[in-house]
Amino acid sequence: MKVDFPAVMDTVRVGLLGLGIVGSQVAERLECQRDLVTERTGGPVELTRVLVRDTAKRRAYLPTAAAITTDPAAVLEDPGIGVIIELMGGMEPARTYIERAIDAGKAVVTANKEVMAHHGPELLDLAKRRGVDVYFEAAVGGGIPLISTFKIDLLANQISRIEAVINGTTNFIIDRMARDGAGFDEALAEAQRLGYAEADPTYDVEGWDAVFKLTIMSSIAFRGRIDPDEVHREGIRGLDPVDFRYARDMGYAIRLLAYARDHGDEVELRVHPALLPQSHLLAAVHDAYNAVVIEGDLVGSVLLYGQGAGGRPTASAVVGDVIDLVLSMRKGIDNRIAVDIARPIRVRAMADVRTAAYLRLHVADRPGVLAEVARILGDLDISISAVVQKQAMVEHAAAELVILTHPAREGDLRTARERLAALETVYAVPAFLRALTPEEAM
Ligand code: NAP
Ligand code: HSE
Repeated sequence: MKVDFPAVMDTVRVGLLGLGIVGSQVAERLECQRDLVTERTGGPVELTRVLVRDTAKRRAYLPTAAAITTDPAAVLEDPGIGVIIELMGGMEPARTYIERAIDAGKAVVTANKEVMAHHGPELLDLAKRRGVDVYFEAAVGGGIPLISTFKIDLLANQISRIEAVINGTTNFIIDRMARDGAGFDEALAEAQRLGYAEADPTYDVEGWDAVFKLTIMSSIAFRGRIDPDEVHREGIRGLDPVDFRYARDMGYAIRLLAYARDHGDEVELRVHPALLPQSHLLAAVHDAYNAVVIEGDLVGSVLLYGQGAGGRPTASAVVGDVIDLVLSMRKGIDNRIAVDIARPIRVRAMADVRTAAYLRLHVADRPGVLAEVARILGDLDISISAVVQKQAMVEHAAAELVILTHPAREGDLRTARERLAALETVYAVPAFLRALTPEEAM
């Protein structure tokens, strides 16, 4: 099908899929700031139809001019609509609707990281063949301009490393637990009430959301296709408030770290809770804020910081994409990413990654125990950086021992954890976390 670009003053009609936390803010901006959008795109942009599940539901903003429907075909098959904004979330039916929109010659703007992490390459390829664009700035880091940074501003660089706090919900929970002593469930409920969490918050808490975002960013940064299922993932559910206190005493803060590093023939990709030196830029990220530190060979280190979750910041990215897209359509040009992300990228096995570690042990308080622990670590070439021992801290155990190691091979760290747990003098190993040492950090 031939795609006709709208002439400068033609009205560009938009269909919106989803009118939830983000969708309602997008609808409000498009309708209530019509003059701003018209001026910046060189002509009118009209929100025409909106798809929801339940038309009777109360909304933060109810569109005044657009028709609200529960029939996807009424939006996807309307020949007058040139742009579809997908803000439903989840894999299906969102992926199918995006594909149907592209197939019908409509451009797409989406905030859907799950769909873009798994199916971005083929959707972008389909869009290219159909002569339309797919924009997805809001899929990573809410209102923080990350996709455009990788897509345009850092194109001259070989990117070597990305370190990020990229999930607002988990950072909010960790912060409330560490700073205010809040319980996990209480902090999660608050994050949900504030509109930060995914419809199913397991995606946030178990680290999936951060994996999807790291996959999308890394795919553009390292120029290839990454399978999100190959990214090492650990969530924050197992974090114990006692570890926040030990970490702080040792000069560290705990964050859900998303980490990517280029090793030439393969890329290291992992999402897990980690101790970060208090001097690290990411240790200063609080509440639902996100931050991404990028290392490029020409630019050095770049820090992007802002609101990574919430309806309004995310709507900023979505409407920004709509404006950029419509402007390009009016000029008759495409604005696709200049990166071929079809080439598969090999992900380094987690066991082969080098990282420092934090271990908390419940041990018998008798002579020789520390020597036994040190021998097990030494045999595996794991060097100790710091040790803290507290007396009678735990039930049935005489002492709590906290060890911070220097960087070692993850596979050896896991073996050490197993051997330690098997010692007769070690009652339990309740915590095994990774750490970034001050020397390693960007
Ligand atoms: P949300 O509040 O749950 O809203 C989802 C909307 O989609 C609702 O209006 C819902 O309709 C509609 N919907 C869902 N499934 C549908 C279906 N099968 N048919 C018709 N309508 C359907 O979600 P959100 O927080 O706005 O998130 C939207 C997207 O933005 C997600 O991809 C999310 O990952 C992404 N995102 C969110 C944030 C954030 O902070 N919230 C930030 C960045 C990116 P009803 O209202 O009738 O149920
Ligand atoms: N649930 C996500 C978060 C929303 O907490 O970061 C932004 O993508």
